Amino acid sequence: MSQIKTVKEFGKVAVAMGGNAAEREISLMSGAAVLKALLSQGVDAFAFDTKTQTLDELKILGVDRVFNIVHGRGGEDGQLQGALELLSVPYTGSGVLGSALGMDKLRTKFCWLGMGIPTPKWMELKETADVDVCAKNLGFPLMVKPALEGSSLGMAKADNIEELYAAYENAAKFSCDVMAEQWVSGREYTVAILEDKALPMIRLETPNDFYDYEAKYKTNTTKYHCPCDLSEEQEGEFQRLSVKAFKALGGTGWGRVDLMLDQNGRPQLLEINTVPGMTDHSLVPMAAKQAGVDFNELVLRILSSTMGELA
Ligand SMILES: Nc1ncnc2c1ncn2[C@@H]1O[C@H](COP(=O)(O)OP(=O)(O)OP(=O)(O)O)[C@@H](O)[C@H]1O
Ligand SMILES: [Mg+2]
Repeated sequence: MSQIKTVKEFGKVAVAMGGNAAEREISLMSGAAVLKALLSQGVDAFAFDTKTQTLDELKILGVDRVFNIVHGRGGEDGQLQGALELLSVPYTGSGVLGSALGMDKLRTKFCWLGMGIPTPKWMELKETADVDVCAKNLGFPLMVKPALEGSSLGMAKADNIEELYAAYENAAKFSCDVMAEQWVSGREYTVAILEDKALPMIRLETPNDFYDYEAKYKTNTTKYHCPCDLSEEQEGEFQRLSVKAFKALGGTGWGRVDLMLDQNGRPQLLEINTVPGMTDHSLVPMAAKQAGVDFNELVLRILSSTMGELA
């Protein structure tokens, strides 16, 4: 982390939030929490909604850096990052390539396969005819996902061919590639990353079929175990694997890697998030707290990664 002597060194900070993706409302909540934390510590920060404001305003306002908390397409996928590079405005999180690859669950798997990083077997579903081939090759149950969404949007478990057809039709509405992957039946964990290092792991437990939108944001039946139930040795092994998987995609700074254990207790990596949720009950703040880093400090440390970068 760069050494910040005073918060004034950050200059004028735009907290980019909102955006146009399906996760807009979540991003506005994350953005409000980040902005509040920055303001309470004396940082000259303001809200910048990428849906309603134009990027040239950043230049006109003389912004020194951007805290990017726009989830999903347009904010988490390299587009905003590329625009900010062209404007020579430093920003938090991964660069263009890491953001673009991290957003795309299908291409994430291509990279991980090449690096020997374990991830469930999958098949891309390009047309209805692929559904039968997929069922034959991968068996059931399957998880169907749009490649470019988050918050479990458009995802469904398929236990048979009828459900697979329905899940494919639904996921195809999300205007991006669709894939089906083999169901992983074991425990679920997430590894938060700060300053390129893993924070304590969290185990997620839900009575639902999986950690769906409802389990993420609507119920209070989801349990979060941090510290989790793993031995120190196993946790260390999964943390190292997750950081490797994050870096393999070009991820830098902060983020989150989601993984599950298969029936043999082996880790299967699902995806990375380069702009994870930052409400005060989100997963990265929860893991940071376990490491002794409160929300205010976490936000400042993420912002500090923009110091000394770009001209
Ligand atoms: N292959 C699988 N087998 C079983 N459950 C799965 C599988 N893939 C995903 N899930 C479940 O679905 C949830 C969402 O999946 P994933 O993390 O891939 O998508 P996401 O919508 O991008 O998530 P996020 O909100 O973290 O961005 C997981 O947290 C997990 O509970
Ligand atoms: Mg996830």
